[in-house]
Amino acid sequence: MKNKMLRSVAVLVAVGLSAPVLADEDADLVINEEIEITVRAPAPDHTENLSEIFSGWVFRSAETQAMQMDDFDNPGMIGVESAMADWAAVDGSEGKSCASCHEDAETSMKGVRAVYPKWNEEAGEVRTLEMQINDCRTTRMGAEEWKWSGDDMVDMTALISSVSRGMPMNVAIDGPARETWEKGKEIYYTRYGQLELACANCHEDNYGNMIRADHLSQGQTNGFPVYRLKTASLNSTHKRFRGCIRDTRAETFAEGSPEFIALDLYVASRGNGLSVEGPSVRN
Ligand code: HEC
Ligand code: HEC
Repeated sequence: MKNKMLRSVAVLVAVGLSAPVLADEDADLVINEEIEITVRAPAPDHTENLSEIFSGWVFRSAETQAMQMDDFDNPGMIGVESAMADWAAVDGSEGKSCASCHEDAETSMKGVRAVYPKWNEEAGEVRTLEMQINDCRTTRMGAEEWKWSGDDMVDMTALISSVSRGMPMNVAIDGPARETWEKGKEIYYTRYGQLELACANCHEDNYGNMIRADHLSQGQTNGFPVYRLKTASLNSTHKRFRGCIRDTRAETFAEGSPEFIALDLYVASRGNGLSVEGPSVRN
């Protein structure tokens, strides 16, 4: 055990881990001078190795933090606007739009993002928002599926997240979701790639430290979808997971794969208590 830990530290040094630099880790987030966002909270009981949880926002530079404080400065809100048009647009063989059944997104989708991924009794599976949206599109609208990380899909998840901002993440991990959660947990602690690094080695053991030029967060998903300044686009959780695994020089799982769905549930549960924050802004 000790050896393993030392080795993982050595690897982290090899990829460029260094002492923390200053960011405003004590800042508070209020959006539009109105929506109070919980960016630090006590860790949920099932998150064994952390006592406190932090939103990724806490670890960003003051400039990046500021972009999220006002919707006019948040480039992710352009995706929300574009999804509003999709929400009202008739598509598919049934001649329906999302609005035909769900009316106004602001009311009907309030609170939804906070409890996803979520067990769906009828389908007998854990569903992410992407899966639920595509289920409505195919089975209820007679429309084509959207691609997991396609613009339409990510924008729609941004719209659905935006109306729950400030509400605490509260995904359920008991009952029938438990098995999926356990599988996600196992993946979280599995070492991948030539660097033999698990999610936990970076986001649990080393958050707050610098890796190359990046300030490591706890890898929470409450801010998703995330507008990344680096790619100038909104990103899904699965796209982020892929990027992180690729950085360990490993083969990665596909977006929408059972492995990533399980990981999505597990990681979301580690953030229970933080506010829904998406669309957030990160570098
Ligand atoms: C023909 C009616 C219909 C259309 C059109 C429709 N939905 Fe649904 N949707 C439903 C029903 C019914 C449910 C299940 C309600 C439930 O069990 O909570 C649902 C559930 C959902 C949920 C999960 C809500 C929750 O509380 O878990 C989301 C998210 C959703 N729809 C998004 C969309 C989006 C986005 C569109 C348009 C792309 C859309 N739906 C189009 C009928 C529809
Ligand atoms: C080699 C270190 C490393 C490993 C291993 C790693 N990540 Fe990351 N991850 C990063 C860095 C660097 C970032 C960008 C800065 C930050 O937010 O931490 C990041 C960002 C994230 C974010 C975005 C957080 C936010 O608020 O925007 C999530 C989610 C995430 N990682 C999840 C994972 C998961 C799940 C795994 C395991 C499959 C994983 N990471 C493995 C380094 C790593």
